[in-house]
Amino acid sequence: MTAPMLAAPGTTTAVLEARSLTKHFPVHGRVPGAGRRLARAGRPAPVVHAVDDVSLALTAGSVTAVVGESGSGKSTLARLMSRLITPTSGELLLHGRAVPRSQRRHLDYAKTVQMVLQDPFASLNPIHDVHYHLSRPFKVHGMAGSAADLDAKIATVLDRVALTPADLFVHKYPHELSGGQRQRVAIARALAVQPRVLVADEPVSMLDVSIRLGVLNLLADLRDRDELAILYITHDIASARYLADRIVVMYAGQVVESGPAVEVTDAPAHPYTQLLLSAAPDPQRVTPVALRGAGAPRSAVAPPSGCRFRLRCPYAMAICAEQAPPAFPAGNGHESACWLLGEGNESSAAHGQGTKPVPATTSAGEATSRVPALPGRRPTVPGVGEDTPDTDRGEVMSTDE
Ligand SMILES: Nc1ncnc2c1ncn2[C@@H]1O[C@H](COP(=O)(O)OP(=O)(O)OP(=O)(O)O)[C@@H](O)[C@H]1O
Ligand code: SF4
Ligand SMILES: [Mg+2]
Repeated sequence: MTAPMLAAPGTTTAVLEARSLTKHFPVHGRVPGAGRRLARAGRPAPVVHAVDDVSLALTAGSVTAVVGESGSGKSTLARLMSRLITPTSGELLLHGRAVPRSQRRHLDYAKTVQMVLQDPFASLNPIHDVHYHLSRPFKVHGMAGSAADLDAKIATVLDRVALTPADLFVHKYPHELSGGQRQRVAIARALAVQPRVLVADEPVSMLDVSIRLGVLNLLADLRDRDELAILYITHDIASARYLADRIVVMYAGQVVESGPAVEVTDAPAHPYTQLLLSAAPDPQRVTPVALRGAGAPRSAVAPPSGCRFRLRCPYAMAICAEQAPPAFPAGNGHESACWLLGEGNESSAAHGQGTKPVPATTSAGEATSRVPALPGRRPTVPGVGEDTPDTDRGEVMSTDE
């Protein structure tokens, strides 16, 4: 997608903005269809197109979810936005000002933009207790103060992630905590320096289903109470709909669709988003769904010309191989990089659509429910999805998990 997808219309200045971020990794070793052949022909060395020309903006008090299948570039984008890696091209703007590429100001940046990783067990050092982990950010950023001050700050930050009373947790080691509690400690560590942006890379995918919702609701509370701008990376589009205000869909390193979460999930405009939604498990679905465009993603080293999804797309047309589709408006702040939304597109007309997507059909040609029944935000059925005080306390308060 070439046109930038920035903040939702009508929103205020972004806290953190990515403009045309691109990250290409060099390829080591022999790559089928590339490598030596290209080198012999004097062409540039092959690279992995992990992220290509991605623009997005994170605003205060909102969650932006980035969804996409494995290898679509989600973690690379998260690492770029956290400045853990440097972009091949493109820039970051923090509070509207360009972030210099030099590492000298990295501590200042890290104080504003914090990252939470997927695996809380791996991100916490097993030989240190919670007190050690939570004291580090205060010390690194020169905010520790006296021992009593530090203890009080650690208790406050544990309270913010609902690990209370703090005394119960502060001297525990990672193996003495449940997965949900470990992730809460990791989030507490990120919150210690009072960041304005939280980049959470698959923060619940390693957690038991029953405690995922507690952590998602914690992120929602941080957005609402502390006005944090949150980038929520996930491959689970249902959780993105539940938590996020906006959804950005990535495929093969590029943004293919973006818009308000409900719009993108209720009326997906891009065939890849339709595929993601049709593949999402739905307990209420009684008949098997016909996946349109199933198949494996193609090489990230030599992506296809034009639309990168075209070799898997059931609606591919000649133009899809010739030109990369720009972002077309799909209504209500919703955009999709698909030629089906282009003016005068024959395929759109043949499918009886204007600017909306093609209905999925079975092989027999009958319409299927393309979009599974997804939970709305904040389910209210106790015990099914609601983060009731009881379930949350069960996870948080148990000391012998
Ligand atoms: N350090 C690296 N060196 C070379 N290639 C890399 C590096 N990091 C990521 N890649 C490649 O970049 C592409 C995007 O990877 P990335 O980890 O961002 O995907 P992802 O969407 O987060 O996938 P997953 O859902 O499996 O975590 C992949 O093809 C991956 O192999
Ligand atoms: S119709 Fe063309 S542009 Fe749209 S997703 Fe399919 S291949 Fe890509
Ligand atoms: Mg990843």
